[in-house]
This record gives sequence, structure tokens and C-alpha cells, in this order.
Amino acid sequence: MCKVRQLLIFLSCLFTLTNSTNVSSCISNTPCKCLLTEDSFTLLNCSYSLPDLPLFNSNTSLNITKIIARHALIRWPLHLCGYSNIEILDLSGSYLDAQYMDLSCVSQLLFLNLSNTQIRKIPNFRRYGLKNLQTLDLSNNQIEILDGSLLRSLNNLVTLNVENNPLKYIDYFDYILGLSSLESINLMSSSSTLTTKKQLSAIQWANLAHKWNSSNKYISIRTNTFSLQSIFPNPDQFQMIPLDLMKIIFQTLSNSTFTTLFSTPSCNCVHLRNYQRVFSFTYYNKNLSPLYQTTTCILPNGIIHALFKVHVQF
Ligand SMILES: *[C@@H]1O[C@H](CO)[C@@H](O)[C@H](O)[C@H]1NC(C)=O
Ligand SMILES: *[C@@H]1O[C@H](CO)[C@@H](O)[C@H](O)[C@H]1NC(C)=O
Ligand SMILES: *[C@@H]1O[C@H](CO)[C@@H](O)[C@H](O)[C@H]1NC(C)=O
Ligand SMILES: *[C@@H]1O[C@H](CO)[C@@H](O)[C@H](O)[C@H]1NC(C)=O
Ligand SMILES: *[C@@H]1O[C@H](CO)[C@@H](O)[C@H](O)[C@H]1NC(C)=O
Ligand SMILES: *[C@@H]1O[C@H](CO)[C@@H](O)[C@H](O)[C@H]1NC(C)=O
Ligand SMILES: *[C@@H]1O[C@H](CO)[C@@H](O)[C@H](O)[C@H]1NC(C)=O
Repeated sequence: MCKVRQLLIFLSCLFTLTNSTNVSSCISNTPCKCLLTEDSFTLLNCSYSLPDLPLFNSNTSLNITKIIARHALIRWPLHLCGYSNIEILDLSGSYLDAQYMDLSCVSQLLFLNLSNTQIRKIPNFRRYGLKNLQTLDLSNNQIEILDGSLLRSLNNLVTLNVENNPLKYIDYFDYILGLSSLESINLMSSSSTLTTKKQLSAIQWANLAHKWNSSNKYISIRTNTFSLQSIFPNPDQFQMIPLDLMKIIFQTLSNSTFTTLFSTPSCNCVHLRNYQRVFSFTYYNKNLSPLYQTTTCILPNGIIHALFKVHVQF
């Protein structure tokens, strides 16, 4: 602990004294190389040797809008608050497995990369605001619960990457789908045990469709762990969603990829007809969207049906 504190004090002094734009071998007793420009700094080759970010004099710090510190830190940087104007923050590969994680003083962030940082929880964005955040990369971590209520305030979020996390379940998925700028969600996983996937109700889908209609948007969901059917209402409730809204939903999700229903619950003929009915008004072209390619199911007679193709045969 004493050693860590000494190093922190040293870091502060060093950058107060330094006034040049490019610095190399910047932090003694570490392998770090620093690249400093007027508005950014990058830490290279630190190999997990830093307990915190270095500090500059406050005038310099306030000019910094971009910090790249990959594989550099051994915990969440407390000095982050010295950089209240940063827009781009890349801490990927650093070791941040801490309960304490604070983004409240970097409210200008547009881009946040926390990929491969050992985190187990989604940061509480509800508390931090971060109204400008457009890109959030949480891939390659240990996150088990994707809680949409924590992301609800991110109205400018365009890209959400949660690839390669051992996700167990998703809460408040409708909040995520309802984010007004969202264009893509990556939920691909090589080790996911995601089993429970709560369906959204017919009313929730109808509300989303209303939102999507006014923005004319596409949302691309990529997952290899759940089917569209598992988040969609049961087909016997389809009549609760007006056809116009159903059309908007499939249009918006047309670039998405879900898993096929190869195992239980297998689809039945009645359900299949309901799906065919709602799919029928959209795509007659040969370029089937990923959504239709993956929305297949297996009937009790063992025959696999691609919903779209079955419709075309009628
Ligand atoms: C600082 O780095 C930039 C880009 O790497 C380079 O173009 C510039 O010449 C360097 N300046 C000094 C003073 O070394
Ligand atoms: C960082 O380390 C790599 C591999 O050891 C080396 O090739 C590279 O030149 C180093 N970068 C700097 C800025 O020293
Ligand atoms: C910071 O800037 C202000 C005004 O621009 C100046 O008065 C002050 O001396 C500067 N501080 C440092 C540490 O450079
Ligand atoms: C901060 O940026 C302003 C405007 O680009 C510049 O005039 C000033 O010298 C910079 N301050 C420092 C300490 O780099
Ligand atoms: C985040 O960092 C990782 C590893 O450094 C990189 O592969 C990935 O492309 C970055 N994410 C974004 C959105 O740039
Ligand atoms: C979608 O929006 C258009 C105009 O923006 C409106 O005419 C139409 O009724 C809306 N559709 C639904 C299903 O709300
Ligand atoms: C569909 O997804 C692909 C790759 O995932 C992307 O290149 C393309 O722009 C997307 N199309 C739309 C309409 O979003």
C-alpha cells in the first residue's frame, strides 16, 4: 500500500514538471511509454504496472479529450476525475475487477471501452448520466446479468457490445431495445449459459413499435443463445399487436440474428401459421434478411421449417 502511494505521488509530480508534448519512458520503474499530444495521451507497454492514471497540471488535464490505457492498470483509476473533459476512454485489457467504479466526473464521454477488464457487473450508468455516450464495449468480461435498467439513460448509445460474457439472463430488455439511438447489440457468446430469457409482453412490443415507427430505425441484435420466439409473445397473443405494429417490429429487427428453435420448445402447427401470417407482409425478395434465415423451427414430425420459406410455398 505504501509503495502504491509513493508511486501515485511520483506520478503527479512527474507530470507537473513535464511540459513537452511527446514523452517516452515516462514513468520510471515501470515499462510504460507515454505518447502525449495536446488533447490526448496514450500509455503503451505498461503491462499492468500502474495503480492509477498519471496526473498533469490541471490546465493540461482539462485539454485532454482522449485517454488510451490498454493493459496498463491494476485497478479502477481514481485520477480519472482529473480529466473531466475526456470523450474517448479506452481501458481495455486493464484489470478493473473492483466493486468501486466511478464514471460520474466524465460526463462528456462518447466512447467507453471496458473490454477484457475482468468486470462482473455492468457499471451503474443510471447514476452517471453519460448522456452523450455512443459506443460501449463490455465484451470479453465476466458479466452474468445484463440489466437494461442500468443503461436506460443512455439515449445516444448507438453500439452496445456484450460479446463473450457468461450471461445468465437479461433484465429489462425492453429498456435496451427502447434506447432511442441504438443500432446494434452484440450478445454473441462462446460460453454463455443464458437459459432464462423473459418474454416481452405484447404491450411492451407494441410500445416499442410505436417508438420505432417515429424514428424509422433498424436495430441489429446478434445472439447465438436465444431465439426470437423466446423473447416474442406466444403466437396466440399476436392478435393483441396490430398488424401495422407487427410489421414495424419485423422491419426494425430484420438485420438481426437469433438462434433457431432446434430443441424444446419445438413449435407447433398453429404457432407456425401465426408466424407465417405476421411474416407474410414483409419480404418477398430473394435476399432473406438474417432474421428470417434464423427464425426457423422444428415441428413434432421432425421437419425443420424456415418460417419465410414455408410461407412462400403456400
Ligand atoms: C510527437 O509525436 C508526433 C506523432 O507521433 C510527431 O509527429 C512529432 O514530431 C513528435 N514531437 C516531438 C517534439 O517529438
Ligand atoms: C511495446 O512493446 C512491443 C513488444 O515488446 C514493441 O515492439 C514496441 O516497440 C513497444 N512500444 C513502445 C512504444 O515502446
Ligand atoms: C492555468 O491557466 C491559468 C489561466 O489560463 C493561469 O493563470 C495559470 O497559471 C495556469 N496554471 C498552470 C499550472 O499552468
Ligand atoms: C489548452 O488548449 C488551448 C486551446 O487549444 C490552448 O490554447 C492551451 O495552450 C492548452 N493548454 C495546455 C496547458 O496545453
Ligand atoms: C476495445 O478494445 C479492444 C481490445 O483492445 C478492441 O479489440 C476493440 O476493438 C475495442 N472496441 C472498440 C469499439 O473499438
Ligand atoms: C407510423 O407513423 C406514421 C407517420 O409518421 C403514421 O401515419 C402511422 O399511422 C404510424 N403507424 C403506426 C402503426 O402507428
Ligand atoms: C446489417 O448488418 C450488417 C453487418 O452486421 C451491416 O453491415 C449492415 O449495414 C446492416 N444493415 C442495416 C440496414 O442495418
